[in-house]
Amino acid sequence: MSIPVDQWLQMLEDAGSEPTGESRISRYLQSSYDFLAEGKRVLGRYSNLTKYHLDRFKADELSTARAPGRVNLIGEHTDYNGLPVFPMAVNRDMAALFSPRNDRKVVIANTEPGFAERCFDIEESIPPYPTGDWGNYCKAAVQGLLDHYRQKRRGAERFRGFEATIDGDIPIAAGMSSSSALVVLCALIFLSSNRLDLHTTAEGLLELADLLAGAERYVGTQGGGMDQAISLMGASGHAVKIDFFPLRIRTAPLPENCSIVVADSTVKAAKTAEALDKYNRRPVECRLAAAVLKRTFSEHYGREVPISLLGDLKEEKLAITESEIWKIADAALHEDPFTLEEIAGILGQSAEKTAALYCKRRNGSIFPEPAEGFKLQQRYRHVIDEGRRVEQSVRALEEEDISGFGELMNRSHQSCRDLYEISCPELDRLVDISREAGALGSRLTGAGFGGCTVSLVESKQVEAFIHQVNKAYYRDYLGLEDREFGALIFSCQAAGGASVFAGA
Ligand code: GLA
Repeated sequence: MSIPVDQWLQMLEDAGSEPTGESRISRYLQSSYDFLAEGKRVLGRYSNLTKYHLDRFKADELSTARAPGRVNLIGEHTDYNGLPVFPMAVNRDMAALFSPRNDRKVVIANTEPGFAERCFDIEESIPPYPTGDWGNYCKAAVQGLLDHYRQKRRGAERFRGFEATIDGDIPIAAGMSSSSALVVLCALIFLSSNRLDLHTTAEGLLELADLLAGAERYVGTQGGGMDQAISLMGASGHAVKIDFFPLRIRTAPLPENCSIVVADSTVKAAKTAEALDKYNRRPVECRLAAAVLKRTFSEHYGREVPISLLGDLKEEKLAITESEIWKIADAALHEDPFTLEEIAGILGQSAEKTAALYCKRRNGSIFPEPAEGFKLQQRYRHVIDEGRRVEQSVRALEEEDISGFGELMNRSHQSCRDLYEISCPELDRLVDISREAGALGSRLTGAGFGGCTVSLVESKQVEAFIHQVNKAYYRDYLGLEDREFGALIFSCQAAGGASVFAGA
């Protein structure tokens, strides 16, 4: 079920001299990458990866897989609230060469020297590495799949491990989902190594995306399902609107005369314990806001009103008219931050119980009450308006209203900055500079607290745009030297979803 190494090497060589090679492996690579635009770069990467893999592992046969990163065009922090997002998968990915093993060991090497090799056993409950360790993303995927198949009465002893070398070209800790791409990649490797076919049908992909969204919480984030879904179900040339609970996707073509330019603020959005708390405070506040609203609505109507997420505030779900919903919700959440005591009072239960129900970290510890209190109104406003902006953006793209779409991106940034408070001075400056440099729309993308911005730029302006941002942001604002910022700003193509090639 895999490719003999000499065939693989031959293919890489053929592809180098004849990029339209007809072998199945070269067709796989050609369907995964735009060889016309970046064939040389892709082949260079795969040659390097192959050399690394064959130096490290004794393989006669191998398979290959890739999982793309993403850039979210609009819809930030809406996913875990049950509201839609609108990302695209990008032509930057995590790629691997791998072979199944005959035992239950997983060995993962990385071409990047900063990521030391990791090795662990497949067992019912896999203990995590310390927070922030890259190996946890692989463990998350394997544990998630083990849990899934255990429900189907298949225990850990029935699975075999694999050895893989991974090479990534997604900027790390930059809000482009390199970590979820790694989770998706390891899941595909595990499935393929065990001849499982969850990833081979459209319904299977939806199930896998859902499962991996839950699985990634293993690393300690309380994120939603956007990143795994777009990495698995990206569509070349298209942005993808993703709805949740249940997961659904709908593609929308990107405008041909515009480009999506990503710029790295260079502020690292790392996944340290402290950074996780910053991110996780938002889902906690949203859960608390939803609990307060559920209580208020239920008291108002004298019946149990089914609200568990902010995204449940919908006419069809609650059987209450839209205008009533917003009247009651707006009145229930005051502008001043809420203390835990006050929330507990509204919910009619103790502060301890409230914290235990809504403020728990994955390890069971309680998320501390922020000194400034819980900003329920601001978070609620952002989430509801951002969900609306996603719907409007999809319509704008479908109607080819490009400037309308750009304006929605600008409004999204404002809301991320002022209401959800996930921006930082560098991101704000980069967004301002991008607009001055001609972007039709520009905003932070991803979890926030650093990372990248995404800008919508007319294709004919891209070169001048990048030149101006280089000058105004990287050189004048950050004080970097020219040679230091070449790779920090680039335009992205919308790529297809993750794939695996394990031979005939
Ligand atoms: C992270 C999470 C996603 C989403 C974004 C913010 O990337 O993994 O699920 O919540 O942040 O939109």
